[in-house]
Amino acid sequence: MKQKLMFLCVFTFLQISCYKVAVVGTGYVGLVMGAALADFGHTVQCVDIVQEKINQLNKGIIPIYEPGLEELVVKNTASQKLSFSTNIQHALEQAEIIILAVGTPMRQDGTADASAIFAALETVADVLQDHVYRIVCIKSTVPIGTADLIKNMLAERCTTGSFDVVSNPEFLREGCAVKDFMEPERVIVGATSPKAVAILQELYQPLQQKHIPFFVTDSATAETIKYASNAFLAIKIAYINEIAELCQKTGANIFDVAHGMGLDSRIGNKFLTPGPGYGGSCFPKDTNALLKKAEALAMDLRTVRAAIEANDAHKKNLVNKVAALVPGGLTGKAVAVLGLAFKANTDDVRESAAIDVINGLLEHGATVYAYDPLAMPNMKKIVPNIHYAASAQEALQHADAAIVLTEWEEFKNLKASNKKLCKLNIPVLDTRNILRES
Ligand code: UDX
Repeated sequence: MKQKLMFLCVFTFLQISCYKVAVVGTGYVGLVMGAALADFGHTVQCVDIVQEKINQLNKGIIPIYEPGLEELVVKNTASQKLSFSTNIQHALEQAEIIILAVGTPMRQDGTADASAIFAALETVADVLQDHVYRIVCIKSTVPIGTADLIKNMLAERCTTGSFDVVSNPEFLREGCAVKDFMEPERVIVGATSPKAVAILQELYQPLQQKHIPFFVTDSATAETIKYASNAFLAIKIAYINEIAELCQKTGANIFDVAHGMGLDSRIGNKFLTPGPGYGGSCFPKDTNALLKKAEALAMDLRTVRAAIEANDAHKKNLVNKVAALVPGGLTGKAVAVLGLAFKANTDDVRESAAIDVINGLLEHGATVYAYDPLAMPNMKKIVPNIHYAASAQEALQHADAAIVLTEWEEFKNLKASNKKLCKLNIPVLDTRNILRES
């Protein structure tokens, strides 16, 4: 009898509450989160308004490049824990937890466009009329105060008590989003309802078992943690790139400077690698959105503004650095641009330094031969009128000069000496400092 009781207790302790989850948005956040939650044991429907995306996913075709994502999607689709649909209403009706993971891109004026969130909320408000308790979890990066706004909006439309709104910002890096979800350094939850907190803890049970910090605060604070974290990382990068400029003039070794700085635990050794300037779909968007939020509150975040300005100047100055390497300047010359993605292990070119460099080279009258192992299809949509090479070697064979912008592994085999590519003896600007000195 005693043994049986013990077994029952152990089984109960290990049992994970499995929830029915609907994830709205199948971008790299929504798709990664949906697949990972299905792997945790929940039943997940990922929904999107783009029929083509859902068609591809239902064929096991993953529309984005994320290491480990395809395996996760295929495994959990096969076990029927994960499914894809454009029928948002039906998915939300079935769900106990609704996760909003739609894009909130930057507008021209720098503010965050949360219209996709509010469009999805129309369906959420309709579904909540059935008085079945659900959690509305905001995963997308939204302006500070948005969760509270949504709470009030839904409270006007739905009977109170039939829902809780929580904020649960993501900290996923493109190219390692699956790893960052499965092994986060913390889970941040903005919620005041103990019931909602308990359900979120069960949703993330496998992470709880790994003793990953699960920090609960209010929604506005959780939203601020997201923006303040990204802005601080952006400041670190803009800062180290300026120090790198200083080192070039003083002859100091920027890598030793970064290493020496990083040995101080108050600074930390991450995000101190100099490069062409930060890009991607997050840092530029989030720093500008934070700045705009402050402006709307009649204050200026001078440190964040300085980071944005420093980063923009750094990216724009890269062309001048290439021009300085080419006797007689760039007009009529051919330049190989190696690397188009905003960083390695992604096909994403959003806000990539390569866009600034290519436009600058064209303005200087140069001919551009570009190569990237993954990102060329995306760059062709933005900059169609340059040459796209099938390999780095093909791009280089035409070139009078070269610039390395993305830290792809295959570029590390190019040998350089005194800022010249050895075999071809052409000047090279290695913005990632990855070329092997021969
Ligand atoms: C970032 C945040 O890291 C992540 O937590 C958030 O959820 C989304 O935004 P991501 O934009 O995918 O992730 O890329 P990240 O790896 O942070 O790099 C951002 C940019 O900074 C890239 O252009 C990268 O090349 C650059 N970078 C990063 C540096 O130049 N030096 C560094 O040391 C680190």
